[in-house]
Amino acid sequence: MIKIAPSILSADFANLERDIQKVRSADYLHVDVMDGIFVPNITIGIPVVQSIRAATDMILDVHLMIDRPVRYVERFCQAGADIVTVHVEADSEENTGRALDIIRAQGKRAGVVLKPKTPAEAALPFLDRCGMVLVMTVEPGFGGQKFMADMMPKLRQLREWIDGRGLDCELEVDGGVDPVTCKTVIANGANVLVAGSAVYKAPDIPARIQELKG
Ligand code: DX5
Ligand code: ZN
Repeated sequence: MIKIAPSILSADFANLERDIQKVRSADYLHVDVMDGIFVPNITIGIPVVQSIRAATDMILDVHLMIDRPVRYVERFCQAGADIVTVHVEADSEENTGRALDIIRAQGKRAGVVLKPKTPAEAALPFLDRCGMVLVMTVEPGFGGQKFMADMMPKLRQLREWIDGRGLDCELEVDGGVDPVTCKTVIANGANVLVAGSAVYKAPDIPARIQELKG
């Protein structure tokens, strides 16, 4: 089954509850956390995740674009995240592993994220501990960028490893997913599709969420 995770990065933050309600027919709610260090943008943090948790029953998919996330993962879990993903580029292999262990010990789904220039192999040391692998199809930091089709071999490789090892691991893509590119990522093995602008700019949001399932 294909799942859609609308990104609230494209929502109106002054009307966040209203904009979360608009996407309630989706599978996950994607929350982009940026610290201005790991990526050149700053968004929201722990108190906002806590308030979102109180406002919706949706599954919160929290994408941490922060430096050394091991410092904060426990607090994001306690704030109400259901899925927490950390970038492999944001710390040492040892600390990334520790971050995953902390998330799992909190009873949450843990995952790693790969930036466009990071090869599929970078996920290998963590695969057994991952409930999610997220492949960026844009440079992280901003919504509304162009989809990078050249990430498809990486996606296929990860799908092969996940299936070959029989892992309970979702494969997510993030960046530039729209009614055309959704077909490409699904054909290449993704089962969770993040979409910000394609969802929030649609005239009929529930119809667009359905359309993105391919
Ligand atoms: C970018 C974020 C994405 C972003 C996607 O760094 O991780 O989740 O919201 O936006 P679109 O779907 O507009 O490319
Ligand atoms: Zn994201």
